[in-house]
Amino acid sequence: TDMFTYDPGFTSTASCQSGLTYIDGDKGVLLHRGYPIGELAEKSSFMEVAYLLLNGELPKQDELAKFNRTITRHTMVHEQLATFFRGFRRDAHPMAIMCGVVGALSAFYHDSTDINDPKQREIASHRLIAKMPTIAAMAYKYSIGQPFVYPDNALSYTGNFLKMTYSVPAEDYVVDPVIEAAMDKIFILHADHEQNASTSTVRLAGSSGANPFACIAAGIACLWGPAHGGANEAALNMLREIGTPDRIPEYIARAKNKDDPFRLMGFGHRVYKNYDPRATVMQKTANEVLEKLGVTDPVFDVARELEQIALNDEYFIEKKLYPNVDFYSGVILSAIGFPTTMFTVLFALARTVGWVAQWNEMITDPAQKIGRPRQLYTGPTQRDYVAIGDR
Ligand code: CMC
Repeated sequence: TDMFTYDPGFTSTASCQSGLTYIDGDKGVLLHRGYPIGELAEKSSFMEVAYLLLNGELPKQDELAKFNRTITRHTMVHEQLATFFRGFRRDAHPMAIMCGVVGALSAFYHDSTDINDPKQREIASHRLIAKMPTIAAMAYKYSIGQPFVYPDNALSYTGNFLKMTYSVPAEDYVVDPVIEAAMDKIFILHADHEQNASTSTVRLAGSSGANPFACIAAGIACLWGPAHGGANEAALNMLREIGTPDRIPEYIARAKNKDDPFRLMGFGHRVYKNYDPRATVMQKTANEVLEKLGVTDPVFDVARELEQIALNDEYFIEKKLYPNVDFYSGVILSAIGFPTTMFTVLFALARTVGWVAQWNEMITDPAQKIGRPRQLYTGPTQRDYVAIGDR
């Protein structure tokens, strides 16, 4: 067995080759197809980034228009899917609903199981990206007991999602451009992040040739955990629990105490040993959104102060723990009006683009094989069976 490399958590194993995303964790650099994340967040749109990740190049005007039309055409879900939602308890966590409903899409698209047909792969990819906002909004509406809102194809991808989420019967809902722009930026910042746990899960599930909708459901399950996508929900809950800046030292002390399992949520990263470049954009966006919406939230003051204290604390300096993408996203999402239980759902919606792009890259990679790690066996050596009466 010693011919295998033991690498728990895959800290030094490259599981694949990929041309999508580059990270230099020491310098805090993140590039998609060569373009810095900061520039994409400032200058492009989520649909443009989706096109870039899927196709390798930024779209020309007509290519983007066509891509938008294609995605828009697929935003509806089958009417039968609505009955699927109704099987869930009304207090179900929206991520539990997402795992189930996205997995159930595989039953609606059996054709997608033909993964060697490029046309089928393309349609499945477009369907997933297009239907995710519809399903996410339905999960939210279901949890608050309101009727589902159908997609409005006159709106942008992000505007449409906001309308499906916030529109109430018999009331006009007009998408606020400030919120739409902030939401779109949050989606860009979450679109892809090379071989993180959920993306690796999607690749591993997909490596057996499984239906892509089922593979994305596996990714959603993995994303849910608090060490991964669930950190945005956990971070905001933590900031609210801290409540006022004077209680920060107590929580810093807990994070440093090895006998206390508590960790500062939204801090630290497997790859970044420097400021997460997404957190830089996120903090700036939080500033803008709160200011433009005229929202004052003490949680933002707690976040900023906590960041300053941690960045100057020797424990965090020594371990190179910096704020990650999840630290400030919750402040913005909360200002927009999302309950914390929806935060990870929004992450899943955006990351679907990365999952789908990585899945396509894997399927078309000539070196692709089923993912099958080995192990170092630590159990008993061979022994004889003992009859039950003699044990
Ligand atoms: N608070 C306090 N101590 C920490 C923290 C934290 N947030 N993160 C890491 N450490 C300590 C940890 O205790 C360990 O100390 P020691 O070497 O003395 O045992 C050391 O730093 C290294 O941590 P690790 O757990 O071995 O590192 P990892 O690469 O396996 O974990 C992580 C990375 C992101 C899971 C971890 O930093 C963490 O749990 N952070 C909080 C959750 C979080 O914010 N997750 C979001 C990640 S970014 C976006 C996403 O994936 O969704």
